[in-house]
Amino acid sequence: MNKLPLQLGAVIFGFSILSSAAVDYGNGKIFDITHKITSQLPSFGSMEGLGQFIWLVSSIKNGSTANASEFKLGTHTGTHVDAPSHFFQKYYDQGFDVTSLSLQALNGPALVVDVPRNNNITAEVMKSLKIPRGVHRVLFKTLNTDRGLMHKKEFASDFTGFKKDGAQWLVDNTDIKLVGLDYLSVSAYDDAAPTHHIFLRNREIHLVEGLNLDDIKPGKYTVHCLPLRMVGADGCPTRCILTP
Ligand SMILES: *[C@@H]1O[C@H](CO)[C@@H](O)[C@H](O)[C@H]1NC(C)=O
Ligand SMILES: *[C@@H]1O[C@H](CO)[C@@H](O)[C@H](O)[C@H]1NC(C)=O
Ligand SMILES: *[C@@H]1O[C@H](CO)[C@@H](O)[C@H](O)[C@H]1NC(C)=O
Repeated sequence: MNKLPLQLGAVIFGFSILSSAAVDYGNGKIFDITHKITSQLPSFGSMEGLGQFIWLVSSIKNGSTANASEFKLGTHTGTHVDAPSHFFQKYYDQGFDVTSLSLQALNGPALVVDVPRNNNITAEVMKSLKIPRGVHRVLFKTLNTDRGLMHKKEFASDFTGFKKDGAQWLVDNTDIKLVGLDYLSVSAYDDAAPTHHIFLRNREIHLVEGLNLDDIKPGKYTVHCLPLRMVGADGCPTRCILTP
């Protein structure tokens, strides 16, 4: 007679564990726009992908009381931010690393915009998007998402990104301080250095690269990005979320 309620309890308990990802804690919906860091994640310029990046240094199997690992990651792995020191020696020397980035810029109201799929982000494309003044954070959803580039371990140099005239147009004609994009670099491969220089020169624009916009419809959200406070780092993986 005792067995039945116990089994029932186990079923209910089991169910609540299974559905724990969907538990509503009263904080509303959260869209995770961070790619998982896996060995298959693409790595800039490489055909091999990230590869093994985490190792157990003590393990229960070997008699330790706990499992504990160490990892090694490039500062521009997966979903990540760039610091001004990434492209300017003077900013590197002056310590403008990821800890100097503004949490105000990285957190707040944001627009997700769909970018025309037939071009990189040029001045003309930027103009056509008609992003109003007063918008400070924009995540650009591009052909990169349609192509699933962040899900392919081979680096694709033909990804969509900003051309230098697109970057200059953004600096001159908008109030955008956070530029987010859905592949490993905000700048098109051919324009990598000039575009980053234009964006990072004034240390005002914050770059978030490698975003996962797979399930995100264009529109208004609140973005939250919190990179680790890593002194000396010219970039850093970051968790980013959107809330409606
Ligand atoms: C566990 O022990 C084996 C055999 O000594 C060794 O090869 C392995 O590296 C150890 N692993 C860890 C995580 O300590
Ligand atoms: C702990 O490490 C062992 C390998 O030593 C592994 O089999 C086990 O899954 C790990 N446990 C957890 C909780 O990660
Ligand atoms: C964007 O530019 C890259 C070169 O940086 C090129 O390979 C790619 O085809 C361009 N994409 C589009 C959609 O024009």
